[in-house]
Amino acid sequence: MLKIAVLVSGGGTNLQALLDAKARGEIPHGEFVHVIASRPDAYALTRAANAGISGEVISRKSFATLEEYDAAILQALRACGAQIVVLAGFLSILGPTVIEAYRDRIINIHPALIPSFCGKGYYGLHVHEAALARGVKVTGATVHLVNEIPDGGPILSQKAVLVEEGDTPETLQRRVMEQAEWILLPQAVSDFCAGRLSVHGAWVSRK
Ligand code: GRF
Repeated sequence: MLKIAVLVSGGGTNLQALLDAKARGEIPHGEFVHVIASRPDAYALTRAANAGISGEVISRKSFATLEEYDAAILQALRACGAQIVVLAGFLSILGPTVIEAYRDRIINIHPALIPSFCGKGYYGLHVHEAALARGVKVTGATVHLVNEIPDGGPILSQKAVLVEEGDTPETLQRRVMEQAEWILLPQAVSDFCAGRLSVHGAWVSRK
C-alpha cells in the first residue's frame, strides 16, 4: 500500500474525488495519509478532516525564500511517510528539492489539454479564460508527472470536454472538473499505485 500525500490550495473537489474513489475501493494500492494546504482557508482541509486524514497549512508567504519553503514541504512529506505526492488544485510552486526527492512520483492535474493553455500564468480560472478568449471548441484536462518545467512532465492521461455556446470561465471550469478532472485523477492515481504505468521518455504507457 503506497502512502499518498495530497497538496491543495482551494475547494478541494479533486481531493474529494480521490477520497470518494478510495471509499468505493477504486484505489486499492494507495492510502491517503496527509493533506498539505498552501492557504489556511482551503476548504480542502475540511474535506480531509471529514475523512479522518491529517492536514496542515504550509504557506509560501510564510517563508522568505523558495528554498526555505521547499525544505518545509519536504520535511512535512517525509514526516508523514509519503511515497507519492498528488497536486490536486494546488496553486503554489514546488521547488527543485521536493521535485528531486520525489522524481517521477509527483502527479498533477491541469485543467486543459497540455500543451494548450499551460505553463507560467495558466492556473485556475485563468486557464478557462484563455480557452474562451481563443475560441477553442474543445478543451479538457491532463494528468501529468511533475518536473522542473511548469506543466512539462510526461502526460499520464487526458480527457476532452466540449466548450458550449455562452460558456463563462466558471461554467467551463465546472464542466471540465465534472467531466474530466474528477474522473482522470483518481484513475491515474490508482493506475500509478498499482504499477500499471510505465514512462518511456515523454510517452507513458498503461499496462
Ligand atoms: C480545478 O479546476 C483545478 O484543476 C484547478 O483549480 C480548480 C479547483 O480545484 N487547479 P479543487 O476544487 O481545489 O480541487
